[in-house]
Amino acid sequence: MSLPFTSKSDLVIGLDIGSHAIKVCQLKQVRSGYSIVTLGSAVLPEGAVDDGTLYDPKIVGESISTLFKNLKIKNKKIGFSISGYSVIVKKVSLAVMDDAALEEHIMEEAEQYIPFDIEDVYLDFQDLKTHGGDGDRTDVMLVAAKKEIVDDYLKMIRDLNLNPVIVDVDGFALENTYEYNYQKTGNVALVDIGASKMNINILSNGISVVARDIIVGSRQITEQIQNIFDVEFEDAEALKLGFLPAEDRQQEIEEIFTATCTQWVLEIKKAIDLYHSNHPDRPLEKLFLSGGGSKVQGLTDFLARETGLSVELFNPFVNMTSTKRKIDSNYLNSIAPEMAIATGIALRSSLI
Ligand SMILES: Nc1ncnc2c1ncn2[C@@H]1O[C@H](COP(=O)(O)OP(=O)(O)OP(=O)(O)O)[C@@H](O)[C@H]1O
Ligand SMILES: [Mg+2]
Repeated sequence: MSLPFTSKSDLVIGLDIGSHAIKVCQLKQVRSGYSIVTLGSAVLPEGAVDDGTLYDPKIVGESISTLFKNLKIKNKKIGFSISGYSVIVKKVSLAVMDDAALEEHIMEEAEQYIPFDIEDVYLDFQDLKTHGGDGDRTDVMLVAAKKEIVDDYLKMIRDLNLNPVIVDVDGFALENTYEYNYQKTGNVALVDIGASKMNINILSNGISVVARDIIVGSRQITEQIQNIFDVEFEDAEALKLGFLPAEDRQQEIEEIFTATCTQWVLEIKKAIDLYHSNHPDRPLEKLFLSGGGSKVQGLTDFLARETGLSVELFNPFVNMTSTKRKIDSNYLNSIAPEMAIATGIALRSSLI
């Protein structure tokens, strides 16, 4: 799904502006599918982006410019994605109608589905065609994104002399990466744990049936370390990642990790329970974990034990080639979990 500008020609540069880091991915089409042209990330200062809102466009813009320069990116067509409180994704059941009638209906009735003034949002929708040709109702996925939030991103990107052609939604970008790489249509949960939000997207036979953003993430761990040990944010982050020796703080840090991961797992279980109660005949087969939070040691095993599901680290490049000379394979493996959303956006222009 893309709103409000799309272009079908060249592949766009996928730009994921997270609250911890911006991620960039450029792909090209090759005979076997897609190949990575370039990719990279840059950490943002704390507070520049939060809950999907751009608080410091100047700093974020400078980070994007520097990253593009370092990666020698010339293509100006950009796709980016949004998330957080300003985006509402909702599935509604409507009478089957053709696209024109559906558009008219949604424009007239959207306010009953969306808690925002319709004048204030960009609206997009997709008929999921769940009626299978014989029923009289179909599920329609509605997306509403606050104009003022999206416009801030558009302005920042245009001010960099770049051309934003696709606006995606994090959860859909994740789904897109999954579909291309794993080419399966079973029942799976995609979970991306970033710095400040967790995105859950449960797919049943290739259709998104549970989609939610939850305000938890790996920054919680950093902030607790910061508060408990009274250290600067950067030092707390370094302690969390093991870049600074924990010394006598080891046990307390482990307790913070355990408590936070327990909370994450509870949220994931709630979404899985909701899915199972609505689809008792379609058990989940697997859970794919991405985002920087997925790198917490032991999380996949913990999640597997707690949910009874097979849990796998999501590899957004599993079905792609790359020029090994240009992209170091150790770097690629280490950054892969964080690149899932940027990759999904970079795949967009050929799939919409
Ligand atoms: N090994 C690790 N253990 C724990 N946390 C980690 C690890 N590696 C990275 N992280 C954390 O992952 C987060 C960054 O992940 P990611 O890039 O997916 O977030 P983001 O996309 O910027 O955030 P969001 O999507 O929530 O806005 C940071 O909080 C970072 O500290
Ligand atoms: Mg993210």
